[in-house]
Amino acid sequence: MKNKEIIRQMNNEHSKVYDVVLELPFYHQHLNKILNELTPKESGIYLDAGCGTGNLINKARCNGYTFIGVDLSDEMLKKAKEKGIENLVKADITHLPFRNDYFDGITNVNVLYQLKEPKKFLDEANRVLKTGRKIVISTPDKKASLENFAPEFIKSLIKNPKIFLRMREIIDYYKINKDIIKENPGFYPKDKLEEMVKESGFDINKIEKVYAGQNWLVVAKKPREEKEQGLEDKVN
Ligand SMILES: C[S@@+](CC[C@H](N)C(=O)[O-])C[C@H]1O[C@@H](n2cnc3c(N)ncnc32)[C@H](O)[C@@H]1O
Repeated sequence: MKNKEIIRQMNNEHSKVYDVVLELPFYHQHLNKILNELTPKESGIYLDAGCGTGNLINKARCNGYTFIGVDLSDEMLKKAKEKGIENLVKADITHLPFRNDYFDGITNVNVLYQLKEPKKFLDEANRVLKTGRKIVISTPDKKASLENFAPEFIKSLIKNPKIFLRMREIIDYYKINKDIIKENPGFYPKDKLEEMVKESGFDINKIEKVYAGQNWLVVAKKPREEKEQGLEDKVN
């Protein structure tokens, strides 16, 4: 079976328990941080590449922002649809079905590590993003490990003891994620991640640790072309 089909099937399985993460305050903090970094506008159209069950889009639409969600897994998309989310597209984010310079911003949260060819996604993201606009990526660091979430998890249990009732789902969540990581172990150190993002044509604004210190958050921009920038300088 092809790698992409294996990843798709694993994510279909993951979708059955994925939303147990909604019980964890640090998952919400992570998505809020991504949206704050993106600074979307009500007039824009944004892409959440690898939207899963639509949790980031759900937060964004409460604030009046328009997102298109793309995911490989039909079952993940079904869960997103059940939340009332529209504008969902089943597609591979390494071959995005959108025209050049279409989006006002892109988010990509906990997806890059699942890609056999992350560079292909970054090239595609650069193609479909308008110049001067941002991409916000969050992906595990080379040394990240699911076990390192334990302190945050314990804090979550203290705040919300009803998580105990969902322990079976949490264990399945971690088991399936471990299998996905085994299939495509795309955990990158900071310098490799920076190199890939820059090679795809982005300028990096910020790179810092987030998500209980396990992920790199990369905020990057598609630079304006020199001619365009010169014109803008004259206007200003
Ligand atoms: C760990 S989940 C993250 C979901 C969501 N971004 C979130 O933060 O809750 C990873 C998602 O990436 C999707 N994915 C993996 N490879 C993909 C690909 N090549 N194209 C589109 N989606 C992909 C999976 O189906 C899954 O829904």
